[in-house]
Amino acid sequence: MARLTSDKIRQLIKAQQAGYSLAQVFYKDPDIYQAEINQIFLQHWLYAGHVSQIPKTGDYFTFEFDTESLIVVRTTSGEVKAHMNVCRHRGSRICLEQTGSQKHLTCPYHAWNYNLDGELIAARNMPADFDMSENGLHKVNVALLGGLIFVCLSDNPPSLDHLKNDLTEVKALFGFERMKLAEKKSYRIPANWKLAVENYQECYHCAPSHPEFAQVHAMAKPPKVFKTAKAEFANANHGNPKFKQLNHYFDLAAVGQEGYQYDRNPLVRGALSGSLGGKAVAPLLGEVSDYDGGASELMIGPLSYFLIYDDHMLCYRFLPVSIDECICEVSWLVNDSAIDGQDYQLAQLTWLWDITTQADKKIIMNNQKGVDSRFYQAGRLSDMEYFQQSFLNWYLLTLSK
Ligand code: FES
Ligand SMILES: [Fe+2]
Repeated sequence: MARLTSDKIRQLIKAQQAGYSLAQVFYKDPDIYQAEINQIFLQHWLYAGHVSQIPKTGDYFTFEFDTESLIVVRTTSGEVKAHMNVCRHRGSRICLEQTGSQKHLTCPYHAWNYNLDGELIAARNMPADFDMSENGLHKVNVALLGGLIFVCLSDNPPSLDHLKNDLTEVKALFGFERMKLAEKKSYRIPANWKLAVENYQECYHCAPSHPEFAQVHAMAKPPKVFKTAKAEFANANHGNPKFKQLNHYFDLAAVGQEGYQYDRNPLVRGALSGSLGGKAVAPLLGEVSDYDGGASELMIGPLSYFLIYDDHMLCYRFLPVSIDECICEVSWLVNDSAIDGQDYQLAQLTWLWDITTQADKKIIMNNQKGVDSRFYQAGRLSDMEYFQQSFLNWYLLTLSK
């Protein structure tokens, strides 16, 4: 496909009709993909991981998308910091493993040595005028929401003030800080990242595609039935901060603020958690005193989604590998005092969303195949795809900046 100028991209954005899926070019054009990297992935906050993944000084994990790699590390002072995983000598990757623990960050190529704060502390045989203080690793913005680590590569990141303020009670209630990572799985999907994100944003496909999910989540029921169940659930819990509704997502975000959303939805009657048969699968989270038969949807920034049951939390993150490949990473977090094999069984904990994400992977791959066809044309969205529509509005607006 021929390369597009930014004027041409703007024309395509103008031509895109509201209420329809995107034109094929948005999934296929390399210039559009580069614009997405610049305007979305390099500008917004991305969920990196949980503090429990790096409990001790020197513990680190790497975090990758497109051609970028970041190191998220616990420093000597106990802070969480992030640096670009790019040596300031001649650019080699420094940390080659996905996780590890190091006293220093030493480049494997010519052994330039950085401390955990990213400052260069040793470089052999350099000219006399070489200034080590000007050759530290590129810094990446880090923000903590309870124990959730977010990173942003922008020089001017969107503010998290509104969402931090609005989520204070939710964060304490579910004990974001007092969780630990029980399992993490990466699903590599040969499809454009937007198809994966769009799929996550609508439950139009839940009933036909996810029988396991539909047995537990009322959201998979016909819209009228779900609406009634949700209204009853909210009324019965009126005034409870767990049932707060925050709708500042995508095009509804205030100027300069990162987008976010929080909402609690009912499970089917009798279900306690997201598991086979809706059974409880782990000790209750944070300050939660009992199961209420619900699950909270939380979105922070455009690419990180959380699903909070009373006894565990799922983190979903979508990142591109290239224009036609993406990774959906799913993390399962439990109460930090829970013991694997005793208080929870990993296979039971992960069953529902592993089977559901594998099904989603197939759906998304098939979607990409159809989108690749000469006969693909933008299709009309259903009323159940309103959240996806909001994403598309925001996406087109962001791309046109
Ligand atoms: S590229 Fe890292 S020390 Fe040379
Ligand atoms: Fe799905």
